[in-house]
Amino acid sequence: MEAREQEFLEYVQSGGQVETDDWMPDEYRARLRKFIEMHGNSELMGVLPEREWILRAPTLQRKLALTAKVQDEVGHAQLIYRVVEDLGKPREQCLDDLISGKSKFHNVFHYPTKTWGDVGVIAWLVDAAAIISQKALLKCSYAPYARIMKKICWEESFHILHGRDVVLTLMNGTDEQRELVQEAVTRWWGPLMQFHGNPIPPEDDPMFVWRIKSQGNDAARQQFLDGRRVVRARAVRAPGRVDGALGRAARGGARDPRLRRRAEAELPPRRRLPPEGKTEGGT
Ligand SMILES: [Fe+2]
Ligand SMILES: [Fe+2]
Repeated sequence: MEAREQEFLEYVQSGGQVETDDWMPDEYRARLRKFIEMHGNSELMGVLPEREWILRAPTLQRKLALTAKVQDEVGHAQLIYRVVEDLGKPREQCLDDLISGKSKFHNVFHYPTKTWGDVGVIAWLVDAAAIISQKALLKCSYAPYARIMKKICWEESFHILHGRDVVLTLMNGTDEQRELVQEAVTRWWGPLMQFHGNPIPPEDDPMFVWRIKSQGNDAARQQFLDGRRVVRARAVRAPGRVDGALGRAARGGARDPRLRRRAEAELPPRRRLPPEGKTEGGT
């Protein structure tokens, strides 16, 4: 590594931020562009399975809320592609590469939405997993990307509230509606556990080394598992056994009486999830 590159690396590792016109090593620029482009692609592809449910949403209010979420996600893609353009790749090229399969998008968006339960669970849990990654990007060494993450994070947190409301409404409905949530949580749990990527040590992850990401994959996954949502997801019913440390953490988190009390305190009485004893079936 030449001296200038080493100096740049030390600068970003110590919290320094880079603007579009600043000098940056070729490797940093290439990794940054690829990562941000994939993020833009994911925002765009994520709307396709959700869009399918706009016309099938059960009420006008749900149609409006889902339409707004879909519009937000497309807006995120637009913002993110602008950042990619500033790094030297035109938006048309991004879209051509996405359509031809040359560029990638997040694996979680390859799964179909089979029921209305999926619509709630995606907004409640997939968006929750996404906001953990996106909040960590607020500290990204590339300043223009970090800046747009503020608006994106605000909107993502609103999506989570929308998802939670869909899930709570279903859980207070009929047995059939509760089963829709249960089936969706069980089906999405695997993809959720893979959401934050391979469990590589942060120091071996070039994205972490260049401080494009400020959090390792496992740390992000653990943060998701530690969240109150896991308690609530498990109040639906344990979503299949997850082996290893992650699984133990999930199961440990759900048994934690402090987290359980917090979940109960935050849910209004009439909208509380059914007592776990009535629905707990898995591990
Ligand atoms: Fe988004
Ligand atoms: Fe979202």
